[in-house]
Amino acid sequence: MCARKSAAPVTDEISTLRAQLENANYRYYVEDAPGIPDVEYDRLLRRLQELEAEHPELVTADSPTQRVGAPPAEGFPEVRHAVAMLSLDNAFDEQEVRAFARRVAERLETDEQSVLFCCEPKLDGLAVSLVYDNGVLVQGATRGDGRTGEGITANLRTLRSIPLRLRGENVPGLLEVRGEVYMSHSGFEKLNDEARTRGSKVFANPRNAAAGSLRQLDPGIAAARPLEFCAYQVARIDDDYLKPSHSALMRELRELGFRTSPEIDVVTGADGLVDFCDRMGKRREGLDYDIDGAVLKVDDLRAQRELGFVSRAPRWAMAFKFPAQEQTTVIRDVTFQVGRTGRLTPVARLEPVQVAGVTVSNATLHNMDEIQRLDARINDTVIVRRAGDVIPQIVSVIQDARPEDARVIEMPAQCPVCDSSVERVGDEVDARCSGGLFCPAQRKEALKHFASRRALDIDGLGTKLIDALVEREWVKTPADLFRLEAERLAELPRMAQKSADNLVASLERSRHTTLARFIYALGIPEVGEATANALAQHFGELHRVMDASQEALEAVADIGPVVASHIHSFFAEAHNRETIEDLIRVGVDWEEVELGEREQPLTGQTWVLTGALEALTRDEAKARLVALGAKVSGSVSKKTHAVVAGDAAGSKLEKARQLGVTVMDEPALLAFLGEHETPDSSESAS
Ligand code: IVH
Repeated sequence: MCARKSAAPVTDEISTLRAQLENANYRYYVEDAPGIPDVEYDRLLRRLQELEAEHPELVTADSPTQRVGAPPAEGFPEVRHAVAMLSLDNAFDEQEVRAFARRVAERLETDEQSVLFCCEPKLDGLAVSLVYDNGVLVQGATRGDGRTGEGITANLRTLRSIPLRLRGENVPGLLEVRGEVYMSHSGFEKLNDEARTRGSKVFANPRNAAAGSLRQLDPGIAAARPLEFCAYQVARIDDDYLKPSHSALMRELRELGFRTSPEIDVVTGADGLVDFCDRMGKRREGLDYDIDGAVLKVDDLRAQRELGFVSRAPRWAMAFKFPAQEQTTVIRDVTFQVGRTGRLTPVARLEPVQVAGVTVSNATLHNMDEIQRLDARINDTVIVRRAGDVIPQIVSVIQDARPEDARVIEMPAQCPVCDSSVERVGDEVDARCSGGLFCPAQRKEALKHFASRRALDIDGLGTKLIDALVEREWVKTPADLFRLEAERLAELPRMAQKSADNLVASLERSRHTTLARFIYALGIPEVGEATANALAQHFGELHRVMDASQEALEAVADIGPVVASHIHSFFAEAHNRETIEDLIRVGVDWEEVELGEREQPLTGQTWVLTGALEALTRDEAKARLVALGAKVSGSVSKKTHAVVAGDAAGSKLEKARQLGVTVMDEPALLAFLGEHETPDSSESAS
């Protein structure tokens, strides 16, 4: 039994822990500069939970441990807003923005160029209101119809970007803050990935995910959703705290512990407004959350009062809306595209529609499971969405609009390109054309892959050229590429003699490659670069890979039964073996792989070190990771396996969080190294 500690040191430790946790939240959400790694945050929180469990009398409602834990509710109580939550009038183009600036100036009887406006991005989430009584969060509510909303306090308490208690000594007796609850793109993708893995329903977009999460009766569920809050308005505050301008109030909110938009800017007159809207339009793609426009507010609060309201919207503010990213249209037909590995992808042929300035006439339907999930049919009316550069998506089907002649979408029994039979293997979601390289569609895609940068890297052999070569039947297999002659190539339309010569020269260069690239270039289903590398390292020689049994393949690190069976059946096909022999015959070769290099635990992984380490120097940490087979890189991306965050880690840590990359602190790294290092590997690191 451990001795019970005396109360005073425990009280001190508890308040220190609470302050540390609150500071960590503040730095992360308000200052955008994470102070401590996640693992450290979790450690502090666990310690606080332990202490509070031992001393229940010391638990307070605003303790960071009390974010989650309220029992599921039966329903949400009605909350009447003391100040109505209004909406905003919209402007859809520059003219309407300029007209707004003109109206404001006229009413204020001033010169248009002298009005200051505070501009913010228009976050695409849900408006909520938070009430603080003497600095403590007492109520959180949805907008509802603007007069009456729903009390969702327990759910809102779970958001770490919402302070449970206001910061600082001197806080207003009453404060009502409004802002938007939203979900970041990275949080949304992670949530949907998890849902897919579990086989549960995925959300159509971050906004729906945020709305669905706030409506959960069990705050435990809301707590597990990556929701964030950004404040944009003060509805009520003690007079002493009032400021002359909206922008000053926003700064005050930051002091009190709220995240406000880092994009806020104060601009002058109509030109300033138009410029801000343009800038936000350009920023939009680079943000990790959805915005659907900009909110333009007269900055001076006295001027706001003077301008007042018309019906349900203030005269002092305007929402500039970006062109909608979603539109409705009709699925006219569904065709099937054949990919490199023969996979058939259903593509919806749409009634052309303008979405965010671009005409959309096709959208991918991914696979038959997706068609079933959407319950989509030909002639259905659907909502299409285009976000950034991504391929247009069908978000949902408007079931009520289904016409009588709606037709069920069926997977064809024959490949639409080569007429070979279409097979669906086991319980795989994908159906594939069985034609292999006999199928021109697969041949084109296989050649594109073969020539791509990470494969044989054939400079100058682009998509159009490959299409032309396959259509003329000059190239049927990858080996045929090496038989091309410059004179013949020069006969192609738009092909100058010089380009033809260059292409032949680059084919000559690409003939000499590495075993890993060669294996990758073969385009074996599910075999990416990392697997190709692992195979080359493990077997050292091509024919040993080709003749390996299923068990021998499964013995390679990171190769599971599914990938092993793809590799095994690929090499079991006689025509694939012939293609390989033919490639060797036309002179494709590679250096021998030095065998004996053992598979390392971190082979194929990229790690990033950031912040200051204590026990190790950067170089030591790097050497020890490299000795375990890792690559240590300076920048964080989706491909990063883990980020080691020391003290004062900054933007890299934040990026890792945004991308959902594993983060570990130095003690965790040391524990990890201790677990994986063998006498050999630590020797080679020193
Ligand atoms: S100010 C008097 N600022 O837009 C209205 N609203 O139609 C004060 N919104 O439901 C609203 N970002 O959810 C304001 N920076 C921002 C905003 C914002 C998003 C939403 C809000 C509201 C809707 C207005």
